[in-house]
This record gives sequence, C-alpha cells and structure tokens, in this order.
Amino acid sequence: MDINGKTVLLTGANGGIGSALAKQLASAGATLVLVGRDESALVRLRSTLSAQQRHHALAYDLQASDGVERLLGFCSTLPSGIDILINNAGMSDFAFVAESDPDVERAVIGLNLYVPIALTTAMLPGLLLRPEALVINIGSVFGSIGYPGFAVYGASKAGLRVFSEALRRELADTAVRVLYVAPRATQTPMNSSRVVAMNQALGNTMDPPEKVATAILNRIQTGRWRALTIGWPERLFVVINNLLPGITDSSLRGQLTRIRQYSRVPASAAGKHQSDSNFDKRKIS
Ligand SMILES: NC(=O)c1ccc[n+]([C@@H]2O[C@H](COP(=O)([O-])OP(=O)(O)OC[C@H]3O[C@@H](n4cnc5c(N)ncnc54)[C@H](OP(=O)(O)O)[C@@H]3O)[C@@H](O)[C@H]2O)c1
Repeated sequence: MDINGKTVLLTGANGGIGSALAKQLASAGATLVLVGRDESALVRLRSTLSAQQRHHALAYDLQASDGVERLLGFCSTLPSGIDILINNAGMSDFAFVAESDPDVERAVIGLNLYVPIALTTAMLPGLLLRPEALVINIGSVFGSIGYPGFAVYGASKAGLRVFSEALRRELADTAVRVLYVAPRATQTPMNSSRVVAMNQALGNTMDPPEKVATAILNRIQTGRWRALTIGWPERLFVVINNLLPGITDSSLRGQLTRIRQYSRVPASAAGKHQSDSNFDKRKIS
C-alpha cells in the first residue's frame, strides 16, 4: 500500500511508539490525525512533522464516555475521510493478579481492548467506502505468551489479537486489510523503572520505538498482512509456547521469584495499590 496521500488516524500519538510512527508516516507523505490526551505534547509533536500544517492534533480521552464519539464527529468533517486507522493507545500494569487493583484492570481492558473494538466498529462503514483501507492494531508479545505480572495486560492484547484475526478474515473479500502487530519490550514511557530493571536483570531486549515504527511501515508498504511479531527470539518463543507450553512453563518458573520481586513496589513508596503501574487514576473517571 502506498502511504503517500493517505489519511491516518493514530491513537496514542504522544507515546514512544506513536510519535515514532507519526514521524515516519508523515515523512512518507501521510496526513495524520494525532490523538492523545496531552494537548501541548500533541502540538509539539505536530511541529516536528514534515508538512506540519496538514496534520490535526486532537486531545481526546478515549476512555471518557464521549471520547470515541467526539473523535468520530471530527473524522466526519474531514473531506478526505480516513484510509488507515492505527489503534496504538495503550496502557500497562505490572502486577501479579493477587495484588492487582480492579480499577486499573478495568482501565487496561477498556483502553487496550474495548476502545480499539469500538473505534474499528464505528470507522468500518467509512473504511469500506475507500478504494483501499487498513486497520492496524498494536498488540504485544504478551498477547501470545502469558507472562507473570502481565496477566491482565496480556489478556487485553490476546483479545485484540483474536479480534484482529477474525476481522481480517471477515474482510477478506473487501478492500479493507487488517494488521495485528505484537512488539516485544520497547523503550517507551509505558515501561516503568521496575519493568526496565526486570528486563535488564533477565536479559530481555528492549527495542527503540523507531525500530517498531519502521517494521510497521515496511509491512504497510509491502502489503503483508499476516500478524507481525517483532523481535527474535520472541517470534520463536511464541511458536514454542503454542506447540510446547510446558517448555515456557519451566522457563518462567525459573524466573518467577525475580519477576515477583520487581513487580512489588516497596511499602514505603506505595499506597494501597502495590503494583508498579503507569496508570494515573486522575486521568479516568
Ligand atoms: N512499550 C512497550 O514495551 C510495548 C511493548 C509491546 C506493545 N506495546 C504497545 O504499544 C502501544 C504504544 O505503547 P507505548 O509503549 O508507545 O506507550 P506510551 O509511550 O505510554 O504511549 C501510550 C499513549 O497512549 C495514550 N493514552 C493513554 N490513555 C489514553 C486515553 N485514555 N485516551 C487517549 N489516549 C490515551 C497516551 O496519551 P497521552 O500521553 O497524551 O496521555 C500515550 O501517548 C500500546 O498499545 C502498547 O500496549 C508497547
């Protein structure tokens, strides 16, 4: 698919992967509708993009009751319509289920799974009118490998993976393509210092967000729509986990004590909620 001239709706545009995607898509000639909550960060991001005046910056909270509706309202005013929807906004919470906060669980499932489903459902009639269109859902390797401390996050991404797979098959006889992308750990603000420390201790590679963006642009430009897992050996681990889950069980059993240590916030540094979350309760209501 040629990106030049396409209009792209990108959620989570302010984030690590979102801003890297925005820069590469704009350089490839796309017009962007940038969505996030932090308006000044969106405006700053827009000022760094090629042909900045043609892009739109929308500060909408997609978890608010009217967030998706307001976004659709804006998109309906665009003469060009949307060609590519990228469901990238997401949040994580590093917490064992026994210590997990129900409010955070609801927010993680809401933003990572329900919002992409709601946006895709609402945008689909418009996408089906385009000569060619694309939905990209940003998942995670943890949507294919259940990882201690990321049960709820992984569940949200596994749901998104299956939604994307079924949708891709539903739309196989239309001009709308669907791509599910599963990055491995990536160097962005989503990962708290504890997640970064755990990844360092366990030797887990963390990709720069630009690498993730480049892999996604490559898939768009070469038109390969089969689900993309980014990183080696993570791609192999996904296959092993599917075929021989006992091997993954044993390997993660060996790391469990260390993973649990990193998931716990010392009592002195935490309130009631003991997990290590990037979740800001002030930002949902
Ligand atoms: N980083 C990783 O290790 C990793 C690995 C695998 C997959 N992923 C996935 O990649 C995607 C991007 O993550 P990232 O690492 O780039 O995260 P990030 O830097 O934390 O960015 C997440 C973005 O989501 C936006 N957002 C959060 N809540 C929102 C809401 N209620 N309404 C609208 N926007 C909201 C934030 O916008 P504001 O800043 O404007 O509030 C933020 O810009 C996510 O789906 C994530 O699950 C990340």
